[in-house]
Amino acid sequence: MEISTSILSVEKENATTVFYNLETAKTDYYHIDIMDGKFVEKDTRDLMHDYSNTIKQISNIPLDVHLMVDNPKEYIDEYIPLNPSIITFHYEACKSDEEVISLINYIKENGIKPSISIKPNTSVEKIEKFLPLVHMVLVMTVEPGKGGQKLIPETLDKVKEINKIIEENNLDLFIEVDGGVNRETIDNVKEAGVNIAVAGSAIISAPNFKDAIQELKN
Ligand code: DX5
Ligand code: ZN
Repeated sequence: MEISTSILSVEKENATTVFYNLETAKTDYYHIDIMDGKFVEKDTRDLMHDYSNTIKQISNIPLDVHLMVDNPKEYIDEYIPLNPSIITFHYEACKSDEEVISLINYIKENGIKPSISIKPNTSVEKIEKFLPLVHMVLVMTVEPGKGGQKLIPETLDKVKEINKIIEENNLDLFIEVDGGVNRETIDNVKEAGVNIAVAGSAIISAPNFKDAIQELKN
């Protein structure tokens, strides 16, 4: 299981140092939480763009971009030049199946891995037909909008459900979870069968990033 560190709660004053330290601590990805003030209340557009630029200057560790926005296409265009490894958009932000498919294709055409996310109250059934087309599904384990929330245990049932679909259809698909991942919840996350776990506060507020990441991995 890989760890993607959410930099949402990193303070501006020491951001560069934190990004360096995350690189030394061997995070597998930097998880970039882009919020537009519409899809969710918070607006992190400028901050995340700044942070992503800084990271690209100091690190080769891949970016894992999570778009919590109403108009994904606009932000995909904004992030393509930063060459992220993965771009995730929300199923709930799309107006039609055609839009979902065109976003997936657009991300792929730009050499980036496409990923689709569902909020805690959205069923797997809604996205089942897209699973063969995407690289990854991001199962939100909290309501998107802020860090430091408690993982909703029922959301891990969806991870198990997706794993069953993967097995039955022999799919090449990654599963990521995001929200409330910490030392208390990590065993259940692993047991559900997750490829990438996003962790924000569990890492950023720890005294030692390397220990925090290792603890989640083992
Ligand atoms: C929630 C974000 C998450 C979150 C992770 O909207 O997408 O990435 O900030 O933070 P923790 O690990 O603190 O729940
Ligand atoms: Zn996120």
